[in-house]
Amino acid sequence: MVKDDTLASQSISAGATRPELTAAGSETNTGVLRSVQADGLIVDLRTRPLTRAYATLIPMPTSTLAFPPAAQMDVLVSRAEIAERVSEIGRQITADYEGQTTGHPLVLIGVLKGAAIFLSDLARAISIDNTFDFVAVSSYGRARVSSGAVKLIKDIDNPVEGRHVILVEDILDTGLTLSYLRGLMLQHKPASLKIATCLDKPSRRLVPIEADYVGFKIPNQFVIGYGMDYSEVYRNVPDIRIFPNGADH
Ligand code: IMP
Ligand code: MG
Repeated sequence: MVKDDTLASQSISAGATRPELTAAGSETNTGVLRSVQADGLIVDLRTRPLTRAYATLIPMPTSTLAFPPAAQMDVLVSRAEIAERVSEIGRQITADYEGQTTGHPLVLIGVLKGAAIFLSDLARAISIDNTFDFVAVSSYGRARVSSGAVKLIKDIDNPVEGRHVILVEDILDTGLTLSYLRGLMLQHKPASLKIATCLDKPSRRLVPIEADYVGFKIPNQFVIGYGMDYSEVYRNVPDIRIFPNGADH
């Protein structure tokens, strides 16, 4: 299910400016084809037979309804629990790499943008020398489901050949992103390659991959906060919270 649909529907609400009506059957790249019934109900013309004479192009959402306040969402992992677990993982990584990084700091490679906050906390929780780099992959965009296609948008800035590397991710979900990135990073010939993820949703896995360091295993619920977004919103929320109606991805 593509979340855009829901968002677009929700963007039409009481008081919202109704977009211009266009002839049914027309479509553009900037909108989603919907019909608006007399009572304001939105009908998706792609899944329902066309029964009305008019359709409307609904622009990207502007309504706050699509983005409920984070404070109203249930907390799944509190900032205190996150801080404690990140410290633990930092201590574990420190112990695991002790004595192996002299002159060659451990390289943390964060997956933009979701992992940025976890990485910044983790880097400081690790007591041995470490440095960081970032990669960016094609995101899910506005959808909450993966298309299955992962594309590299930004590669690492510095070579990691012969270095100990940890890929740092916000969520290990289907596993598509990290399996792709792991394959790519191995081509750079690091001395070792491990994976650290803040969250793990094991029930969602489509490809077999596990992280070496996991903050929290969570059920199949869509979450936001601590770097994680819904449509680029909520990344700065300090706790990890459950996005409403979030189990449908
Ligand atoms: P996957 O393991 O390739 O399916 O993708 C993992 C990526 O999907 C993460 O880095 C997130 O960007 C995104 N993602 C998966 N689940 C969630 C979620 O619950 N909230 C926010 N982003 C998510
Ligand atoms: Mg991500």
